[in-house]
Amino acid sequence: MSSLKHAFKKISAVVVTGGSSGIGASFIASIAKLEDNPRICNLSRSEPEKKFLDAGVVHIACDLSLRQDIERIVPQLQDFLSQTPEGEVLLINNSGFGSYGDFYGVDRERELAMCDLNIRACVDLTHRLLPTILKRGGGIINIASIASFQPTPLMTTYGATKAFLQSWSLGLSDELKNKGVKVLCVCPGPTESNFFLAAGYKESQINYGQTAEQVVDEALVAYAKGKWIVTTKFLNKLSVGISSKLPRVLVTKLAGATLRKVRAIK
Ligand SMILES: NC(=O)c1ccc[n+]([C@@H]2O[C@H](COP(=O)([O-])OP(=O)(O)OC[C@H]3O[C@@H](n4cnc5c(N)ncnc54)[C@H](OP(=O)(O)O)[C@@H]3O)[C@@H](O)[C@H]2O)c1
Repeated sequence: MSSLKHAFKKISAVVVTGGSSGIGASFIASIAKLEDNPRICNLSRSEPEKKFLDAGVVHIACDLSLRQDIERIVPQLQDFLSQTPEGEVLLINNSGFGSYGDFYGVDRERELAMCDLNIRACVDLTHRLLPTILKRGGGIINIASIASFQPTPLMTTYGATKAFLQSWSLGLSDELKNKGVKVLCVCPGPTESNFFLAAGYKESQINYGQTAEQVVDEALVAYAKGKWIVTTKFLNKLSVGISSKLPRVLVTKLAGATLRKVRAIK
């Protein structure tokens, strides 16, 4: 904990998306514990827990799947950053959702909103905040998934959005490596949160491998070490490692067979 605390000492402002639940809420809780006077700004549609707001977390309500909403909140975000003390800025692109079902049967507007949130909002927010991050130093944490390593039939669009995020994140890591900006891609496996219910699964169908707190603990250690990518939990690392050695079509078929075994609510 003390080496982590040391690594995070230089950060004076944190912007997190999706801090109203799950992994994002755990980021807020963990960073608040690490920093003496955390300046955290949350972007999501609903508020984070009251205890966070009472502790000074700033909430800017917005639907990040809407480009005009991002446009609308940028001045508020810049205001927040300008009121934080000199020091590093950390952006955590965490908001995201998935949907389960055959692509021809899922709602088109929802698939498009998923692309806008899981991909477009990350690119937009990062591009807008990067000048400040370059000036003050700091970094970006992108929450992808183990779904980013191979196609995910029945969650086809979701897996593809996360594959984009992994590729984009690693590209940025290299571009920014000598510019005082760290970029980390986090790839969790099934994690206890609202994610699966939101994606249309029955709660009872899920074997969560990790809690959101465990994912965040591993992410923060990886960020402090300057890693470019981390797959959380040993079993996830193992399965990703084995899959990477197999032919891509076979891995796709195996992923499809696994995902077909779990039935969605609808
Ligand atoms: N849980 C898992 O098994 C798992 C595994 C791998 C990766 N992930 C990734 O982890 C990230 C966090 O998910 P989670 O597991 O913590 O699920 P979660 O509890 O459902 O949290 C999702 C967060 O995204 C926010 N969000 C959703 N739609 C939004 C929108 N239109 N605009 C702004 N914010 C929006 C939600 O806030 P509001 O509803 O208040 O807007 C919420 O805070 C996601 O990117 C997900 O893909 C999750």
